[in-house]
Amino acid sequence: MIWQPNNLVVAESAAYMQHEMPEHCVDLVVTSPPYDNLRDYNGYSFDAESVGLGIMHVLKQGGVAVWVVGDRIDGGRSLTSFEHAIMFRDLGFRVHDVMIYQKKNTPFMRSNAYTNAYELMLVLSKGAPKTFNPLTCPTIRNGKETAVYGKGPDGDNSKRRAVTLRKEKTLINIWQYAVGLGGTTRDRYAFEHKALFPEKLAADHILSWSNLGDIVLDPMCGAGTTLKMAALNGRQWFGIDISEEYIALSARRVAEATARLEAV
Ligand SMILES: C[S@@+](CC[C@H](N)C(=O)[O-])C[C@H]1O[C@@H](n2cnc3c(N)ncnc32)[C@H](O)[C@@H]1O
Repeated sequence: MIWQPNNLVVAESAAYMQHEMPEHCVDLVVTSPPYDNLRDYNGYSFDAESVGLGIMHVLKQGGVAVWVVGDRIDGGRSLTSFEHAIMFRDLGFRVHDVMIYQKKNTPFMRSNAYTNAYELMLVLSKGAPKTFNPLTCPTIRNGKETAVYGKGPDGDNSKRRAVTLRKEKTLINIWQYAVGLGGTTRDRYAFEHKALFPEKLAADHILSWSNLGDIVLDPMCGAGTTLKMAALNGRQWFGIDISEEYIALSARRVAEATARLEAV
């Protein structure tokens, strides 16, 4: 099938990106791979390095890929998330940031270690990112304040001046999300897919690393979380998944979200 934006395709993503998509056609990738055989996607195999090469092929210069990945914990940690970070660096990506996706409510308890509450969000780019729209939050202290300045070698710190504290500051790189129904999404039927990331996580990255009209790709789109949030935020989108069933789920979610948008 010929590649065109605002569409979905059932395909193996590494081969599809390399052979069916032109070079430099995507502004942003937001995705999460299957890892450590934690879930059985109808027995499909997955080769992270080939998918990484495919992403390198389709990404524009300055484009960003956000790769959300955790570790299997079975005795110790698999360290897959760390291995993926090193693999992407070795493929020629800039590891622009290693962010943390903290789950506010996590069921995964361990009897002999602290409860695991996070996955990594690798922010990978092809050269320096071409777009960064920093998300902000309100500062706790703001308004006017008297500040000390010009402390000399004699320890004199009697100089004072009035400063205006900023009302907003850029977020830190640890992002917290509630998970489960109402947190991850309100689309109850989307949980037919067992490994969703939160809609807000996808939206926050889309707003940060792309602009209106840009093309956002999820090469392993699962239930279509990235595509839905791209559509709702005025971006073009494209989704690939190896499973026909998940592509149908993605199609339903995007169609319902955009229909609601048009009805407003
Ligand atoms: C972790 S899930 C993605 C979930 C998605 N982020 C969401 O929130 O809806 C990973 C997806 O990768 C798909 N997948 C696995 N191997 C693949 C491959 N080689 N090519 C394309 N898709 C693949 C699986 O079918 C699964 O839906």
